[in-house]
Amino acid sequence: MSSTFDPDFLWGAATSSHQIEGATAEDGRGPSIWDTFAATPGKVANGDTGAVAADHYHRYREDVELMSELGLGAYRFSIAWPRVQPSGSGPVERRGLDFYRRLVDTLLEAGIQPWPTLYHWDLPQPLEDAGGWPVRDTAKRFAEYAATVHDALSDRVERWTTLNEPWCSAFLGYATGRHAPGRRDPAAAVRAAHHLMLGHGLAVQAMGEGARVGITLNLTDVTPLSGSATDLDAARRIDGLQNRLFLDPLLRGAYPQDVLGDLTEVTAFDHIQEGDLKTIAAPLDFLGVNYYAPMLVAGDGPYNESAYVGSPFVRQVDGGRPRTDIGWEIDEGGLQELLLRLSRDYPALPVYITENGAAFDEEVHDRARVAYLEGHLRSCAQAIERGVPLKGYFVWSLLDNFEWAFGYAQRFGIVHVDYATQRRTPKDSARWYADVIARGGL
Ligand code: FCB
Repeated sequence: MSSTFDPDFLWGAATSSHQIEGATAEDGRGPSIWDTFAATPGKVANGDTGAVAADHYHRYREDVELMSELGLGAYRFSIAWPRVQPSGSGPVERRGLDFYRRLVDTLLEAGIQPWPTLYHWDLPQPLEDAGGWPVRDTAKRFAEYAATVHDALSDRVERWTTLNEPWCSAFLGYATGRHAPGRRDPAAAVRAAHHLMLGHGLAVQAMGEGARVGITLNLTDVTPLSGSATDLDAARRIDGLQNRLFLDPLLRGAYPQDVLGDLTEVTAFDHIQEGDLKTIAAPLDFLGVNYYAPMLVAGDGPYNESAYVGSPFVRQVDGGRPRTDIGWEIDEGGLQELLLRLSRDYPALPVYITENGAAFDEEVHDRARVAYLEGHLRSCAQAIERGVPLKGYFVWSLLDNFEWAFGYAQRFGIVHVDYATQRRTPKDSARWYADVIARGGL
């Protein structure tokens, strides 16, 4: 029995609405940017869409039973904005809210804490048609939607997360175009990042004083290839765009000056209004961290990816480590470094790993996934021993699901889904995780 993890350490698993629910045209749900994007030829591998996904909308009871068998303490899921407000503003669709009420009640009956995220990328299409996240109005609409969901569920939900990975929404959605809505406009991406955080801050206000609210960021550990000035500058830039561009406004109430400097040729920053940073820096209950892989960078680009706007000469270097099926390098040490850095630079905030996991196509005996998860949990334990206030861990993902632009080809689940029959089969990693939970540690 390990004593590293507190008895009240939260052991969970995560999913998101568009990746598992399906039923995209049911009970009044409106279209989201991911429906539109996936319907556009060439955007998603194999022409896959989220129309059926893991059919969780109809099978949530069975899925909660599975969670219960695994002994999960918490379940992180997301609420689909277009189910609750089909056009992104105005009328509320009761049937959409009722689905989440039923889900939450089923979780509570099973003794599993519901951890809803309000936005995991499925923006109602009408809001994108009106300009999307690059437009300030979207932040206000998000706060209204957040208040609506909070009103409906706050009697049974304790902990709320506003956004999942605003970096991806902004830079993959509006700069590289690899995610919905698929735009390629660096200035729009930087504006989107600001309005996502503004939406977060306005949502915290709208949910009211007593609400316990956090946000989930995808952060990474960035290392320069060498000690040369160009490589050090490359690492500073990527750390700036991926980590500090979000952490600093949210936790310090200010944009990092060096990053604003890096971006002067991209945008004039006239979208930032007085008072925005104060709104964005509303006190948080916790920080959610999604970690998958580290980054090794050099300053002798060109970079193979346009997500890092304003830094075209930064190159991502192969760190020489084994990779998961999706091509991400495996380095649990990076997770520990990241956690230590967070508690050093942004102290006093409880941290939860809200996603960590691996894509491997091993149907039931998924030894590679067990090894990945075990390594990363060990890294968490070491971080805790070194003083990091890490309070919980959510595996990504409970189920195999729609992995965005990769479609169904990449499987992250600890439970296998046979998409033809929708049969669920716990993989060895699920059994292993159930054991970890039962023992309270590794
Ligand atoms: C994260 C997303 C999540 C999932 C994992 C693999 O960036 O938040 O939905 O796709 O990656």
